[in-house]
Amino acid sequence: MRIARVLQILGILFLNVLLTTHALRHHKFMVRDAPFTRLCSTKNILTVNGKFPGPTLYVSKGETIIVDVYNKAKYNITIHWHGVNLPRYPWSDGTEFITQCPIQPGGKFNQRVIFSEEEGTLWWHAHSDWSRATVHGAIVVKPAAGNTYPFPKPDREVPIILGEWWKQDVVKVFDDLVTTGGDAAISDSYLINGQPGDLHPCSSNDTFKLKVEHGNTYLLRMINAAMQDLLFFAIANHQLTIVGTDGSYVKPFTVEYITISPGQTMDVLLHANQPLDRYYMAAKAYSSALRVVFDNTTTTAIVEYKGKHIPSYSWTPHMPSLPSFNDINSSVNIISQMRSLADEPHPINVPMNITTNLFYTVSVNTLPCPNGSICKGPRGNRFSSSMNNISFQSPTNKINILQAYYNNISGVFTENFPDVPPQLFDFTGSNLPPFLWTPSVDTEVKVLEYGSTVELVIQGTNLLAGTEHPMHLHGHSFYVVGWGFGNYNKEKDPLKYNLVDPPYQNTVAVPKNGWVAIRFQTKNPGVWFMHCHLERHLSWGMAMTFIVKNGNNPQQQLLPPPPDMPRCY
Ligand code: C2O
Ligand code: CU
Repeated sequence: MRIARVLQILGILFLNVLLTTHALRHHKFMVRDAPFTRLCSTKNILTVNGKFPGPTLYVSKGETIIVDVYNKAKYNITIHWHGVNLPRYPWSDGTEFITQCPIQPGGKFNQRVIFSEEEGTLWWHAHSDWSRATVHGAIVVKPAAGNTYPFPKPDREVPIILGEWWKQDVVKVFDDLVTTGGDAAISDSYLINGQPGDLHPCSSNDTFKLKVEHGNTYLLRMINAAMQDLLFFAIANHQLTIVGTDGSYVKPFTVEYITISPGQTMDVLLHANQPLDRYYMAAKAYSSALRVVFDNTTTTAIVEYKGKHIPSYSWTPHMPSLPSFNDINSSVNIISQMRSLADEPHPINVPMNITTNLFYTVSVNTLPCPNGSICKGPRGNRFSSSMNNISFQSPTNKINILQAYYNNISGVFTENFPDVPPQLFDFTGSNLPPFLWTPSVDTEVKVLEYGSTVELVIQGTNLLAGTEHPMHLHGHSFYVVGWGFGNYNKEKDPLKYNLVDPPYQNTVAVPKNGWVAIRFQTKNPGVWFMHCHLERHLSWGMAMTFIVKNGNNPQQQLLPPPPDMPRCY
């Protein structure tokens, strides 16, 4: 018995040594405060390596890298690799209290980031409280050696990171959200590559500028790292050709503007084929919820042609037109046109025989204000939100779900997340009665067998105020096989699914008072979070957790945890 145990430990040690001695590239992430000045005022923000946005990671498809994360800040932190599926290795996923306890101030965690099928643009961000507002950066996954893009090689590639800026400390914004129970303070501007742009005070000297050569093509690696809203984005007088999203290619299609949701990435080709001049790229919010205040400002950057400009050269760049903030039809311009390549070098594998049918509602809710006090949410209550009427409660700071699952520790979560909503009602009806507003609060997971073929329909509801919900799944990409407005109809809607070339994504915006249907096969054992990528909704509990069990074959099982998993306190 003891010998077996010793052999087992030696085996694990050997595996760890094997995994670590392989020549892997290391990156160093120092999480620390740094002063930044925007909109005429200076504040300290949390950064990686003193940069904002943070450093871009360049990798090749299928590569494994090690990111040594040092926490030199005064807050707990975790770092998540958004859209990187980390086969068999949830240990590095960086989801606070789901897959790890946070790295304490002064602590360190060497995160092994395993790339597999992803190719294109992804990103990394902090995954604790609201720290991702400033702790984020791009991940560029190049084709594996010897392979090329499925489109002509662009002359240059540029990350375009859309962000959001509060003049006040975001820690304060988050604390107020929690303590008042009301909605979050709106931001003061959106950002393009860290800059508000010319339309904001004290900003024009630093506006991001992309210098282009007439006749060249630029690959814009777009990331919506904003916290609170879907964004419309366009470049004056130029069309945009979408060639990829969420680390997967799509059949190219050309649009006048894009709609991009928080969490989502897009690979976009810009052909510099217009007269030598200066053109704004601009982004502003799409915000459709009634009576919800939002940051209604526009952020800009400049596309400037090199060379001698024609006489009409405008000092003030041309401005693109963007849809109005509540233009619901414009909000679906991308989702309605996205198709996978589905060709021989880029095969797809849409599950056809579904073993697990799931139907989850996503709602904004209210909960009573604690201790009989008056909160700033509707009717003196506090805001909440839910999936299948359960507002997700993170385990307390003593333990995380992955640790509890791996070590068979009970009492941390229950496995009762329902496959369908506990109450059926006209989900998208108007004037839904207040008794439907209140969710339960719990730490529920849904356990899935290895190899299950899952269809999940996510239904938005009109409770309080219907709005979009960019839903993000960790650990698996999924095919978006259908979407629509109104209530999902299980007789009629499946007939309209795209099972031929649906896009392969990790984040999908459920349209306002509408639904999406996604399919995926559980090929990745572990504990995987699913949540709305609007930060206030996540903070209010619009989340749930999947546990994907091990398969029978050792290749289908979790790898052992690294020796330096941050300790839980
Ligand atoms: Cu981009 Cu759970 O996050
Ligand atoms: Cu949401």
